[in-house]
Amino acid sequence: MARLIFLGSPGAGKGTQAKRLSQTCQVPHISTGDIFRTAVAMQTELGKKAQFYLDSGELVPDELVLSLVEERLTAADVASGWILDGFPRNVDQATFLDDLQQRLDQPIDCVVNLEVPDEVIISRLVQRGLQEGRSDDTEETIRRRLDVYQAQTEPLIDFYRCRQKLVSVDGNQPVDEVTAELAKVLEVGDD
Ligand code: AP5
Repeated sequence: MARLIFLGSPGAGKGTQAKRLSQTCQVPHISTGDIFRTAVAMQTELGKKAQFYLDSGELVPDELVLSLVEERLTAADVASGWILDGFPRNVDQATFLDDLQQRLDQPIDCVVNLEVPDEVIISRLVQRGLQEGRSDDTEETIRRRLDVYQAQTEPLIDFYRCRQKLVSVDGNQPVDEVTAELAKVLEVGDD
């Protein structure tokens, strides 16, 4: 397993599982959300442009996302693989990634869809909002993120199912159990 994408609603556990798998498989974890949050915290030009979208739960425009991803996926440290978390987020991003993979001759091995019911998502993220103060973890913005996910990201489930890359995993179990199921499905060690 060298190149893997995590799909799933906001709060499905993509970041949590991607971090663990990245250690197991020794490949970089690339989270576009983390990249944007760092840029916002540092108030870089990218961060200033992205902040409104993050705070309101909307997708950052593709013109700000695609060049950033291309730059990251052509860096030296990802030559042997990567785990993408939060990208692609719509069909145009997925099509862009397809083209990029062809150009780089680096096909995607697998797309994991983490399945978690909306009411569990809302409770997880409201809780995190209270504990960590992440600005988009308010109930109103969480609901907007779920709407955006349904309208723009969910179509990617069929996009990758048609390419026979998709596996679905129940993300509504304790973290260690999700990790163990992923390890089994992806045939990688989980310790
Ligand atoms: P992003 O950072 O990608 O956020 P998200 O997908 O909305 O949500 P999270 O990352 O919080 O969820 P997650 O699935 O990673 O879950 P996590 O492991 O953190 O994006 C943020 C924003 O950036 C977007 O809204 C958009 O504005 C912008 N953006 C990013 N990428 C973009 C792109 N490609 N194009 C355009 N815009 C983009 O877990 C969540 C919580 O649940 C944690 O507290 C965790 O401890 C807990 N948890 C995890 N697993 C479990 C479990 N099994 N049981 C119980 N609790 C669990």
